[in-house]
Amino acid sequence: MEVTDAIKKRRSIRDYKEQEVPKEKIEKLIEAARWAPSGSNIQPWRIKVVKGEKLNAIKKFSPGLLSKPPVILVMCADKKEAENKGGKLGRDVLSVMDIAIASQNICIQATDMELGTCYIGSFNKDAVRKLLNIPEHIVPELMLTVGVPKHEPKPPSKKDFKEIVEWVGWDNE
Ligand SMILES: Cc1cc2nc3c(=O)[nH]c(=O)nc-3n(C[C@H](O)[C@H](O)[C@H](O)COP(=O)(O)O)c2cc1C
Repeated sequence: MEVTDAIKKRRSIRDYKEQEVPKEKIEKLIEAARWAPSGSNIQPWRIKVVKGEKLNAIKKFSPGLLSKPPVILVMCADKKEAENKGGKLGRDVLSVMDIAIASQNICIQATDMELGTCYIGSFNKDAVRKLLNIPEHIVPELMLTVGVPKHEPKPPSKKDFKEIVEWVGWDNE
């Protein structure tokens, strides 16, 4: 698939088939995350690949989780490493950006593999951390659901090109 097609085809999927995602496919998604850019190249990503009972338990403290996915990737940042290598900026800003960028690599790769994903930002970080025995310096910043979509949702409205761009230093604009 062309990159532009994958970018435009990606949708937030909230309705999955009851179908497992093979481990090799998940490995390919995580490999896409591994090649993401990273502030100061710290690469603070720590990814928990969750299914089964623990996934069901995550649902209890995740109001944003509106689907029954076969897999959830809990996208965590190692704040100790981020701070040691990048100071306060690394800990509070870059690490969060790194998680977002790696997540988007996963979503685009998944689209190319005909898998669906959805970002979950609305969840209780502490509860998820405790459930998965994640130490305090590793912070779950985002979750991604992954699975085989039941159908292709219609694209939501997107802002007009002109609304989001300002050309600076260009002629005739
Ligand atoms: C940082 C972030 C957090 C999000 N959190 C949630 C969430 O908790 N639950 C959910 O169903 N969708 C969530 N979404 C998905 C957005 O609702 C979705 O991207 C938006 O409506 C646009 O639709 P599209 O992704 O199909 O283009 C989140 C997206 C982002 C980028």
